[in-house]
Amino acid sequence: MHMFEHLRILSVIIMALARVVLFSLVGAVACFQDLDFPPGFQFGAASSSYQTEGAWNTSDKSESIWDRFVHEKPHLIGDGSTGDIACDSYHLWRRDIEMVSELGLHFYRFSISWTRLVPNGFATHISEDGRTYYDNLINGLLESGVEPMVTLYHWELPQKLQDLGGWTNPLIVDWFGDYARVVYSLFGDRVKTFLTINEPLVMCDLPYNTGTLAPGIVDVVATYMCNKNVLLAHAKAWRIYDEEFRPKYHGEVSITNQLLWFEAATPEDEELAEHAREWMAGRYSHAIFSAEGGWPPVVEKAMAEDSKKKGYPRSTLPAFTKEEIEFVRGTFDFYAVNHYSSRLVRKAKEGEELHPYPLGDIPELAAKLEPHPHWRPTATAIFWLYPEGLHHQLVWLKKRYGDIRFVITENGVATPAGRNDMDRIEYYTEYLKQVLLAIKEGVNVTGYTAWCLMDNFEWSDGYKTKMGLYEVDFSSPERTRTQKASARFYKNLIQKHSLNFKVYADEL
Ligand code: NOJ
Repeated sequence: MHMFEHLRILSVIIMALARVVLFSLVGAVACFQDLDFPPGFQFGAASSSYQTEGAWNTSDKSESIWDRFVHEKPHLIGDGSTGDIACDSYHLWRRDIEMVSELGLHFYRFSISWTRLVPNGFATHISEDGRTYYDNLINGLLESGVEPMVTLYHWELPQKLQDLGGWTNPLIVDWFGDYARVVYSLFGDRVKTFLTINEPLVMCDLPYNTGTLAPGIVDVVATYMCNKNVLLAHAKAWRIYDEEFRPKYHGEVSITNQLLWFEAATPEDEELAEHAREWMAGRYSHAIFSAEGGWPPVVEKAMAEDSKKKGYPRSTLPAFTKEEIEFVRGTFDFYAVNHYSSRLVRKAKEGEELHPYPLGDIPELAAKLEPHPHWRPTATAIFWLYPEGLHHQLVWLKKRYGDIRFVITENGVATPAGRNDMDRIEYYTEYLKQVLLAIKEGVNVTGYTAWCLMDNFEWSDGYKTKMGLYEVDFSSPERTRTQKASARFYKNLIQKHSLNFKVYADEL
């Protein structure tokens, strides 16, 4: 045989071996763990209106707090950009539907823009163009066999309502309820899962403690007014659905919470870590999901002491009346979890500087929050990798609120630009393994949502942060969307209904 023939055969053998060896991180662990998802477990991907739709002033859409914020304070956005055009999903919704079908998603989570559908803020009239846009999207999804999961509010308050105090005005409970009723009556015949409010912690604590998100007003007292009103507004929207729509449409409604897992830095910090969990998860969950309702007692106590120390005549955490406690308690059909990262919690040292929560520490508890030195950083400055955190979080939630049903409504990671996003594949693999572990231990998790369908406007990071399964070319007027390696991975995972599959290099 000619030497070249030997070489050719050798290279064929090497290639074949490489294909076998090059199975993903996924297959490598198959022998150690059962990597199949339970029958009926559902996979989706998410987006939100401001981050993707664009068309910020098209037709009769009115100005939202995010439109105002980016136009007035571009220096607070990493690349000075806006969501004015974003992914232009307002015009490219057909392509979005094509993408979710390509992936084989069971459901697609998107949000409705209040100012597009109800431009006046108050439910006096409905925008015909706004309604048509969401009708097209919902109908297109259903025709493709993909269930719509609709968030009513993903942070875009009508500016007009902000001028009246926004989430610090208790009347927002009715305003939000009226808006929710419009959404249910227009789309409830086809949409069976609604999320009232996305990450109330990030829309109350972050803006009012740091000013880095809309409406950009720093006022720590406002944080807790917003906190209480948001819980009441959610409850109002849930009750409206329950009484007026559930009997005919048989759908489900919940609220979606952003949860960083808090782990004690040392065994001595365990009690403090538990208080920090109540601070983060409890402040937005206890009133709804606990048997007794109201604020978590440790938070109430810490706030009373902290307010007194600062000279306030009463706690800055507004009290609930008995009627309000009953009104909010039990207003859920499942628990929706957004999870990205974790922190270690330790007691702050004497005189140590503490940064405002949630980007920094929890000064009210004298708690210092840090990543573990071994956790890998990601392209998002505040997120470090600790997949086990998701498992611990789910187990804690079940222990705290009982054997309820959980859906992960967001989980994902930012990676450097480019389509060969192996880090994202590793992230999904590792975090999903932890979901499987929780399921195995008896936590009833029935769905998982990848954040996000495509690269989009990542709030104060602008377009620098890339979290999508699809790349979007923001320099082209067509906003061309192209699959990344992670999209092919996710599609495979959904098809196999398991993490136990081989991914060959040439498939990525
Ligand atoms: C949660 C928010 O809901 C979403 O809008 C945001 O893009 C992701 N976190 C990533 O930061």
